[in-house]
Amino acid sequence: MDKLHIEGGRPLEGEVRISGAKNAALPILAGTLLASEPVAVGNVPHLQDVTTMIELLGRMGVTVTVDERMQVEVDARSLTNAVAPYELVKTMRASILVLGPLLARFGQADVSLPGGCAIGARPVNIHVAGLQAMGAEIAIENGYIRARANRLRGARLVLDTVTVTGTENLMMAATLADGQTVLENAAREPEVVDLAEFLISMGAKIRGAGTDKIIIDGVPRLHGAQYRVQPDRIETGTYLVAGAITGGRVRTLNTRPDHLDAVLAKLQEAGADVVTGVDWIDIDMRGRRPKSTDLRTAPYPAFPTDMQAQFAALNTIADGVSTIIETIFENRFMHMLEMRRLGAEIRLEGNTAIIKGVPQLQAAPVMATDLRASASLVLAGLIAQGRTEIERIYHIDRGYEAIEEKLSGLGASIRRIVG
Ligand code: EPU
Repeated sequence: MDKLHIEGGRPLEGEVRISGAKNAALPILAGTLLASEPVAVGNVPHLQDVTTMIELLGRMGVTVTVDERMQVEVDARSLTNAVAPYELVKTMRASILVLGPLLARFGQADVSLPGGCAIGARPVNIHVAGLQAMGAEIAIENGYIRARANRLRGARLVLDTVTVTGTENLMMAATLADGQTVLENAAREPEVVDLAEFLISMGAKIRGAGTDKIIIDGVPRLHGAQYRVQPDRIETGTYLVAGAITGGRVRTLNTRPDHLDAVLAKLQEAGADVVTGVDWIDIDMRGRRPKSTDLRTAPYPAFPTDMQAQFAALNTIADGVSTIIETIFENRFMHMLEMRRLGAEIRLEGNTAIIKGVPQLQAAPVMATDLRASASLVLAGLIAQGRTEIERIYHIDRGYEAIEEKLSGLGASIRRIVG
């Protein structure tokens, strides 16, 4: 298994180009199943999760071509079996995103239940209940969700919890349903908006994406389209924290500052100078120690759970004591235990972490447990004294494109050890 070696202590300086958003690319690729004609998707990030989604489409008999610039063309007309097998779903929970599109377009879907994961239980009951309310017959058999429907019917769905992929699955299913669907308490994440715009480009009738009420008027078919995935706000935030934690200056290019309001506010609270342009963000923390910042994760537009671990890393070396409250996933603190191995002072009480900033972390071998946890360990490694070794970095390859090259380009000493 590959490892990362990082020599800490170098302030990062320079520009980094942000890739397309993983969590927009995945639902958009699943959404191509809805079209009756070929669809081209650009700015797709080169990531393990994207490869898994493409493999999943391929296993169903769908024709997928990928060029060297990661322009992906999908023709779902060749679909032969509407199945998402356990062996793929267990490696990527986002495979559940094919459930709604398969059912709406082909009238059937057999999708493995994802099961538990490293950050929490993560059930899919809201996805299933929403499709049932739209007229689907659903049985859970042998670990699979077996869903059947002639044509889904529009319905008014009040989602129990704000769920990102749940909103996306139901919104996709509703595009081809008979009549109007109203999603109340919908997720407002920018990735939901990107998916809605993609679906609209194929002829879907959707209003309200980006608010908590999305209205979808079903149409008989969706046509082909060309679409570009939006920039990754979490990758952006991670590189901004890399600039801040190392006391450096970093400019993220090709990004969307308006998707990062809560994150940028926290970086300013930590003492960073933040300047934004139309598609770039500049952070400057030269000559300063970050100040501790309290935070509480919540659905968009509040502070994202996917940036919690990175800010925990920042707080480990900040001046003061901070409290981090994780409200989305019940077990998303594994990185805290690893950071303690680097000398961080962290106390955990249920879903709250209390972090007392120390002047310096020391290198140690650590283990990545999930995607954002790995990112936080890389950030901690960038400032720890000595050489930090991070194991199980396959997690990081799921969501960060070319992380060693991008960080090296900013002056970090980071090396992948292929094993
Ligand atoms: N939930 C339910 N029932 C459901 C669905 C969700 O109880 O049917 C609960 C979950 O257990 C959780 C909460 O609702 O407590 C919110 O989870 P959500 O469904 O929004 O998460 P998700 O859609 O599975 C997406 C991202 C995650 C990100 C979360 C929260 C994708 C592919 N994944 O997951 O991204 O953390 O939203 O913003 O979009 C990551 O990129 O590292 C990652 C984990």
